[in-house]
Amino acid sequence: MRRDPVIEPRNAAGTAPAPVTEPRDAAGTRPPPVIELRDAAKSYPGGVHALRGVNLTVEEGELVAVVGPSGSGKSTMLNIMGTLDKPTTGTVRVAGYDVSELSDSRLSALRARHIGFVFQHFHLAAGRDAVDNVADGLLYAGVPLRERRTRAREALAKVRLDHRRSHTPNELSGGEKQRVAIARALVGDPRLLLADEPTGALDTASGEIVMALLHELNASGTTICVITHDNGIADSLPRRVRFKDGEIVSDSRSGTRSGTRSDTPSGARPGTRSASRTEEAGS
Ligand SMILES: Nc1ncnc2c1ncn2[C@@H]1O[C@H](COP(=O)(O)OP(=O)(O)OP(=O)(O)O)[C@@H](O)[C@H]1O
Ligand SMILES: [Mg+2]
Repeated sequence: MRRDPVIEPRNAAGTAPAPVTEPRDAAGTRPPPVIELRDAAKSYPGGVHALRGVNLTVEEGELVAVVGPSGSGKSTMLNIMGTLDKPTTGTVRVAGYDVSELSDSRLSALRARHIGFVFQHFHLAAGRDAVDNVADGLLYAGVPLRERRTRAREALAKVRLDHRRSHTPNELSGGEKQRVAIARALVGDPRLLLADEPTGALDTASGEIVMALLHELNASGTTICVITHDNGIADSLPRRVRFKDGEIVSDSRSGTRSGTRSDTPSGARPGTRSASRTEEAGS
């Protein structure tokens, strides 16, 4: 019987099984996109159309800003990308897997192994110190407690919070709380980080620290999608997806970063296997 790559750690040295799914868009070695939404729509009773047929491909190594007015469907899309929610119609693929074809347990495994989440209001457990909050990021990855805590300390060092690791959320500033939340998201070494207004509750200086961390993570290979209301932040990111009324109204990339491949105007980072594919809204 074939082993299941969905539930295998992606970094397990020497033990990683061959992918079950062949890359669908190339005969060569290019991996499937990290995220592919095809005609994804989400409706709620009462005629609310939160998403109206969204097409979006995010390739490995991208750093994408999602912007748009309140109520335009940004969080709905992010939750669908992260498999926290399902579209009413349309297809969602994560790392090549059609999520509608996965059982609940495989979906949970896919999420636990590959996707990290960061939210505007941190979602930390009150009364638990930073180490335990971060260690909780590995709860569903089958990692023993001792190792969870060791890796949590390492993740806290990455966000430069070693000196606050025994503090509980009420003993941390907003910026520090968000860094704990980022450490929790990255402790499982996710391929994809989804952040819903991670700087929305922070002052400018703390927001800059959080964005610098996201840039660092992206530079080390993590694909990141970040919802923001801050045009300055959006404009500083290599790709910007703009929403209005449940639809993508523009999808632009800038090739301002060093190492951008000449065959794509995207902001693909050096060392990533990011894409030569580009999409424009409405095409
Ligand atoms: N569970 C739900 N039931 C009914 N309607 C919902 C539900 N969740 C979201 N909506 C509606 O879907 C639309 C899109 O919501 P969404 O949260 O995706 O917007 P958003 O772009 O993230 O907005 P904001 O910037 O305010 O966070 C809104 O009109 C919202 O009222
Ligand atoms: Mg939202």
